[in-house]
Amino acid sequence: MFTSANPFTFCTPTKVLFGKDAIEGLPAEMAKCGHSVLLVYGGGSIKKTGLYDKVKTLLKDFSVYELSGVEPNPRVTSVNAGARLCREHKIDMVLAVGGGSVLDCCKVICDAAFYEGDAWDLVLDSSKVTKALPLFTVLTLAATGSEFDNSAVISNLATNEKLPISHELNFPRCSVLDPTYTMSVSKKQTAAGCADIMSHIFEQYIVDGTNMVSEGLCDSVLRTVVKFGKIAWDNGSDYTARANLMWASSLACNGICALGSDTGAWVCHGIEHELSAYYDITHGEGLAILTPVLMKYTLNDKTVERYASFAKNVFGIDKADKFEAARAGIEALEQFFASIGLPKTLREVGINEKVHFKAMAEHACKTFPISEAYVPLTPEQVVEILERCF
Ligand code: NZQ
Ligand code: ZN
Repeated sequence: MFTSANPFTFCTPTKVLFGKDAIEGLPAEMAKCGHSVLLVYGGGSIKKTGLYDKVKTLLKDFSVYELSGVEPNPRVTSVNAGARLCREHKIDMVLAVGGGSVLDCCKVICDAAFYEGDAWDLVLDSSKVTKALPLFTVLTLAATGSEFDNSAVISNLATNEKLPISHELNFPRCSVLDPTYTMSVSKKQTAAGCADIMSHIFEQYIVDGTNMVSEGLCDSVLRTVVKFGKIAWDNGSDYTARANLMWASSLACNGICALGSDTGAWVCHGIEHELSAYYDITHGEGLAILTPVLMKYTLNDKTVERYASFAKNVFGIDKADKFEAARAGIEALEQFFASIGLPKTLREVGINEKVHFKAMAEHACKTFPISEAYVPLTPEQVVEILERCF
């Protein structure tokens, strides 16, 4: 039985505008914060879908400056470029239109607009964030939950690092969640998004103490992804599937699903960020490769009940032997990942060498509390896990 209900403080100050054409309400929200806006987007998907034109029309009464080309695994160089524009033009607010990478980049642009030095200093030490511009977001990919949380993950190619920064000033002021904007997301990114949403739940779910409300929320998000992930993968234009995935993505990473539970160490994310930092792979694909391996590696007397409960509540697997049930649940997860074309090995995403594994494992254990996780791991064990993904 899981009985814990720890004390907690919780606040998500982000206003959510959800549904088809919800964007119509955005200009009124933005007008509360001023007149000049930095519009930030990625490599051009919003131009292909027509969303760029829609946004420009809606912003006709604002002074709009632009930063385009934000990379997947956003670079600190893009953050610095955005912050410079904000300072130069005395910009009032930032509007991010895109996936998690654009949103994350914008969060730190908002912080760095008030910081004269390299934005990387803020990523390394978030206590240096003292003030932030208001951030508005229009989400185009259901995955990270960045639209509804206060975290960002930024890459620094010069140091081979990809690090998270969280700060209470980094919640978006308002996020537009229109599922129709995700209909153009490729099968690859749809699947990667599913793996990411599920991983956010696993990071909070495979912990020692939890409570019934929390477990129910976690199970529900996982079941939602299993059901609608496949439907969205088969038919990208299915509104119900896209809508369910979008809301699941927002709930999975903002902490609400784990209120009252013990804090997870985010082991899988700690290791994946190393893979993305060294090899620039898609975050969700890295997680999909690592997750089943990590689950099997950490299946023991302590965790077996959690994994068996996952098997039962998400996949309906009920076996008298808890270990058998747990293993069957992990297998069902692998089958789900395979059914939406996710990779199973590092080789499939182009990683053909093990030369950096030791450095990656050491860095992961330094930047995430992996040695204090529910199943604590040493850098040597992290290397072993990476080798099992090969
Ligand atoms: O750049 P564009 O042209 O927009 O194309 C993007 C990009 O190539 C494309 N895309 C996005 N929306 C689309 C679309 N293509 C067609 N139609 C659309 N509607 O998808 C590609 C990937 O986009 P990206 O933003 O990189 O994906 P995602 O949303 O998965 O974000 C991944 C980043 O978020 C971080 C990851 O580490 C990674 O850097 N994370 C952020 C978190 C947070 N803020 O809380 C938590 C997560 O665990 C994660 O670490
Ligand atoms: Zn993630």
